[in-house]
Amino acid sequence: MKLAPSIYTADFGRLAAQVQEAEAAGVDVMHLDVMDGHFVPTLTFGPAVCAAVKAATRLPCEAHLMIETPERHLEAYQAAGMGRLIVHAETCPRLFATLQGIRGRGLQTGLALNPLTPLAVLEEAIPYLDLVLIMTVEPGLGGQRLIPGTLARVARARAMLDAAGSPAELEVDGGVNVETIRAVRDAGATLAVVGSAVYSDKFPVADGVRALRAATR
Ligand code: DX5
Ligand code: ZN
Repeated sequence: MKLAPSIYTADFGRLAAQVQEAEAAGVDVMHLDVMDGHFVPTLTFGPAVCAAVKAATRLPCEAHLMIETPERHLEAYQAAGMGRLIVHAETCPRLFATLQGIRGRGLQTGLALNPLTPLAVLEEAIPYLDLVLIMTVEPGLGGQRLIPGTLARVARARAMLDAAGSPAELEVDGGVNVETIRAVRDAGATLAVVGSAVYSDKFPVADGVRALRAATR
């Protein structure tokens, strides 16, 4: 199970150091939760913070664009060094054009689905996806509890990707921690976003990562 720390709950007063702590602990990709305060209630950060994170690490970085009209911002997140752009099905009425726009820039595509968004959109989109992101919480906040019914969605998405022979990553975001990560892996996910399980004022990053690795041995 690969780990994608979300800096959303990191200490922004020492963000570069927090990113380097995660890299040193052996994580796989940095996950940047871009939120616009419209599609989701919270406003977090944009391309400038993404660029600062990219400058602090050799790890690949993915931007989780919880924003309206993501197609207007592809160039900005490409310039910020994001290797993968994850857009929400709920904010992309012209999904084919948006995914083509991402791939046209030489970036990887990701499609995120909120907890009650039908998985049917995956049927047609799979050929254009390098990653599927199943939200296991309603996006907009860190530290939420994984919504139990969403694990069945992960398993269904796994079956859809396998049936299509797709090599796309299957990522889960929200409430993944030492209690839930084994069930997330067993449902067929290949990549887990971890926010408060890694970035917390209760323990160092390395301890959070170590605990997650131990929970999936
Ligand atoms: C959407 C965000 C959060 C965050 C994960 O709200 O994507 O899910 O990354 O935070 P935790 O791991 O604390 O739920
Ligand atoms: Zn996210």
